[in-house]
Amino acid sequence: MSFNTISVIGLGYIGLPTAAMFASRKKKVIGVDVNQRAVDTINRGEIHIVEPDLDMIVHAAVTEGYLKAVLTPEPADAFLIAVPTPFLPVQMEGDIPQPDLKYIEAAANAIAPMLKKGDLVILESTSPVGATEQMAEWLAAARPDLTFPQAAGDNADVNVAHCPERVLPGHVVRELVENDRVIGGMTAKCSARAVELYKTFVQGECVITNARTAEMAKLTENSCRDVQIAFANELSIICDKLDIDVWELISLANRHPRINILQPGPGVGGHCIAVDPWFIVSKTPNEAKLIHTARKVNDAKPEWVINKVKIAIADFLQANPEKTAKDVTIACYGLAFKPDIDDLRESPALNITKKIAEMHAGKVIAVEPNIKELPVVNTALRLVSFEEAEKMADVHLLLVDHKEFKKESFGGNCLIDTKGIW
Ligand SMILES: NC(=O)c1ccc[n+]([C@@H]2O[C@H](COP(=O)([O-])OP(=O)(O)OC[C@H]3O[C@@H](n4cnc5c(N)ncnc54)[C@H](O)[C@@H]3O)[C@@H](O)[C@H]2O)c1
Repeated sequence: MSFNTISVIGLGYIGLPTAAMFASRKKKVIGVDVNQRAVDTINRGEIHIVEPDLDMIVHAAVTEGYLKAVLTPEPADAFLIAVPTPFLPVQMEGDIPQPDLKYIEAAANAIAPMLKKGDLVILESTSPVGATEQMAEWLAAARPDLTFPQAAGDNADVNVAHCPERVLPGHVVRELVENDRVIGGMTAKCSARAVELYKTFVQGECVITNARTAEMAKLTENSCRDVQIAFANELSIICDKLDIDVWELISLANRHPRINILQPGPGVGGHCIAVDPWFIVSKTPNEAKLIHTARKVNDAKPEWVINKVKIAIADFLQANPEKTAKDVTIACYGLAFKPDIDDLRESPALNITKKIAEMHAGKVIAVEPNIKELPVVNTALRLVSFEEAEKMADVHLLLVDHKEFKKESFGGNCLIDTKGIW
C-alpha cells in the first residue's frame, strides 16, 4: 500500500467520518479544519456533529494515536478534500445560483505546498462538472515544480480524482463502508490509485469512470431526487385544491407495480438536494428545463405552507371571536432539514418557522428534539418540549417527521401536517 499517511481536509459531516474510517483501519490520519473548535473537540476524542456511532470510532482513533486534527495541512501521501460547495448569493430574484468554489480553491492552495511526487489528491466535495480539472489547475499553478494529470497524463507526479460521497446522514458509518463508490480519476492511473486508497475500508464496489462523469453522477442522483420530490409536492398542492388526501392518493398510486411516488413535505432543504441541481442548471441553463422547474416548485412550497398557517389563524379567530391574533400561539414541530438529525442547514422547516415568528403577532414556539438551543436570535421564538407545545399551542404545524413526533394520538386541534404523520 502506497499510502501511509492520509490527510482529510474539512472535518465536517463527510470529512470526519471518512478520516475516522481510515484511522479505524490503523492508517495514520491527519485531519485538517479551519475551525479551531472542531479541531480542539476532535483532539479531545470527541465529535462536534451528530452521527450515530461516530463518537466511539473517533474516540478510539484519537486515543490510539491514529487520528489527529490540525489547523494547517502537513505532508501526507493522499489528500481528500471534503469542504463545503455552496452556491453564491443570488443578486436578483429569479437569477440562477452559481456554484461557489472558494472553499475548494482555499483547500487546494493550502495543501499545494505539502505535495510531493507520488501523492494523490481526491476531491470528495460535491462539485459542478469541471471542478476537479479546475482544482488540478490551481494545484499546478501553485506547484510549477510538479507535473499534474491535465498536462502529463499517467506520468504525472501527482494524481487527481473526483470521488463523490453519497452517504445518508444518520447512517454514515455503515454506508461509508457498504456503499458502492464512483471513482473518477483524471487518468486511468489516478483512478487505480484512488481505488487502492478507498479499498482500505470500502467493501462496496469501486466503479471507475472519468472525473467529469463522476461529478455529473453525484449531481444527477440529487437532481433525480429533487425532481421526484417536486412531483410529490406539486401533487400535494393539487390535492389540497381538489379536497383529496394526498397521502392516501400516493399510497393508492404506489400499489401500481411500476409506480413509486415519493412523499411531499414543506420544501426541500439540506446542502445537497436543494443545492446540487443548481450546479447542472447554472452550467446548462437552456437544456436543464425540467431540473430547473423542479427547483422552483420545491422552493415555492414553504410559502404555500406559510399561507396555510395564515388560513389556520383566520379560521381559529373566526371560531374564537373574543380573541385577536396576539392571543394565538403557533407551535412548529421540527426545524432540521430532515428527520432524526440536528442539521439545520438550508432547512425549509427552520425558514418557515423564522418567517412565521416574524409575521405573527402572538407567540411562536418550536419543538426540535435534536438541538439544545435555537440557532437564531429571535425574541419571538422559543424552544419548548413536545408536551408543552401540545398543551400550549392553538395552531400546530408539523414540519419534520422526527421519530419523537410519531404519536398515536395528538392532543392539538388546529393541525397543519406537512408530512402526513398525524
Ligand atoms: N453532509 C452530507 O450528507 C453530504 C453528503 C454527500 C456529499 N456532501 C458534500 O460533501 C462536502 C462537505 O460537506 P459536509 O456536509 O461535510 O460540510 P460541513 O460543513 O459539515 O464540513 C465542511 C468542513 O470544512 C471545513 N473547511 C472549510 N474550508 C476549509 C479549508 N479551506 N480547509 C480546511 N477545512 C475547511 C469547515 O470548517 C467544515 O468543518 C460538500 O461538498 C457536500 O455537498 C455532503
